[in-house]
Amino acid sequence: MFIKMPNYEIVIETGGIRSLSTWIHEVYTYPNLFVVTDRHVDQLYHQTLIDALPDFILSFVVIEPGESSKSLSTYQAVIDQLIHLGMKRNHMLVAFGGGVVGDLTGYVAATLYRGVPYIQIPTTLLAQVDSSIGGKVGIDLPQGKNLIGAFYDPKLVMIDPLFLSTLDEREYHNGLAEMIKAGLIGDRRLYQHLLTYDQVTEQEIALSIGVKRDLVLMDPYDQKERMYLNFGHTFGHAIEKKHHYQIYKHGEAISYGMLIALQIGIRLGETKPELYEEVKELLLRLNLVKEPLLNPMHYAEDILTDKKYLSDGLNYVIVPKVGVAKIIKLKESDWS
Ligand SMILES: NC(=O)c1ccc[n+]([C@@H]2O[C@H](COP(=O)([O-])OP(=O)(O)OC[C@H]3O[C@@H](n4cnc5c(N)ncnc54)[C@H](O)[C@@H]3O)[C@@H](O)[C@H]2O)c1
Repeated sequence: MFIKMPNYEIVIETGGIRSLSTWIHEVYTYPNLFVVTDRHVDQLYHQTLIDALPDFILSFVVIEPGESSKSLSTYQAVIDQLIHLGMKRNHMLVAFGGGVVGDLTGYVAATLYRGVPYIQIPTTLLAQVDSSIGGKVGIDLPQGKNLIGAFYDPKLVMIDPLFLSTLDEREYHNGLAEMIKAGLIGDRRLYQHLLTYDQVTEQEIALSIGVKRDLVLMDPYDQKERMYLNFGHTFGHAIEKKHHYQIYKHGEAISYGMLIALQIGIRLGETKPELYEEVKELLLRLNLVKEPLLNPMHYAEDILTDKKYLSDGLNYVIVPKVGVAKIIKLKESDWS
C-alpha cells in the first residue's frame, strides 16, 4: 500500500522491510547509509536491518532511548559521530526507531551540511501513524518540548507493522490514542474499527495517515486545517508539562485532553453527550485514561499562559460529531 506525498512516498507493507533495499535504490544512488537508532531498537533489529540491506555499507549511531535524547547534547553527539564515521553531504541518513529517533534524526538531516537526504523507518505505532508523517522535525530545550525544529521532508517513509510485535501494550496503546484522534477528526470508518478492535493492520495505519496527510497538504505550515490535528493536544500538552513528561505518555495525556475537548463541545451545544460517553468507555478500556478523570482546572495556568492565547481567546479544536472537527475561540468560561 502506498500513500503519495508531494515529494516522497510512504510505503505501508507488512514484511516490507525485506524490500527496503529496492525502495532505497529508487531515491538514492550511493552505497553508504548512516543509520541513527536507539539502544532498544538496535538490540531488537540491528541484524534485521543489515539483512534487509545487503547491497549497502551501513554505519550505526546508537542513542539512548527516551525523550531526553531529543536534546542539544545528543544532537551534537550524533553529528560528531556522523562526521567521524565519514558522512558527506550527499550521503543518506536513516531514522530507525520511534518518534524520538525520527524527530532528532530528521533535525540532524535538516541542518548537517545545510541539509542531507534522509529516510524514516518508524518502529512504534505512534511514529508510524503520526511523527514520521508531515515533515516536522526537532529537538527539545530545557524550556520546553520541540522548541527548535524545522519542516524537512524525508525521501521515503517505510512502515512495516511487523515491528509493532515487540512493542509493549502501553506503547502500543499510546499509538492507538493518536489513531482514535485521527478517526474522531477525520475518518468515521477508522473510528468505528477502533471502537471494536484493539489491533490494527496496514489498512487502519493507512487510514490514520490519510487523515494527517490530507490536513498537512491543505495547510503545510500549520495555519488552519492542520490545527485539527491538535484535537486533545491543548490540555494534553499542559498535562504532560505539569507532570514533567514523567507520569503520562503523550497518548495518555491527549486522551484526557480529548475528553476535556468533547466536554467543552457539549457545553457549547456542539457535541452530543453520547459521543463523550462512547469515547470515554473506549479510552478507559485501553487504559489510556483512568477514573477519576483529570480536572481541567488543575491545568488552568498553563492554558492561560499558552503562547497561542490571544486577546479574543485560544484557537481550540472541538469535534461536533465523528469525522468532523471545528476550530473555536476558547474562553476561560468555556471550561472553568
Ligand atoms: N514530528 C511530529 O510530527 C511528531 C508527532 C507526534 C509525536 N512526535 C514526537 O514523537 C516522540 C514520541 O515518539 P514515540 O512514542 O515513538 O517514543 P520513543 O521514540 O521514545 O519510543 C518509545 C519506546 O519504544 C521503544 N521502541 C521503539 N520501537 C520499538 C519496537 N519496535 N519494539 C520495542 N520497543 C520499541 C523505544 O526504544 C522507546 O523506549 C516525542 O518526542 C514526540 O514529541 C513528533
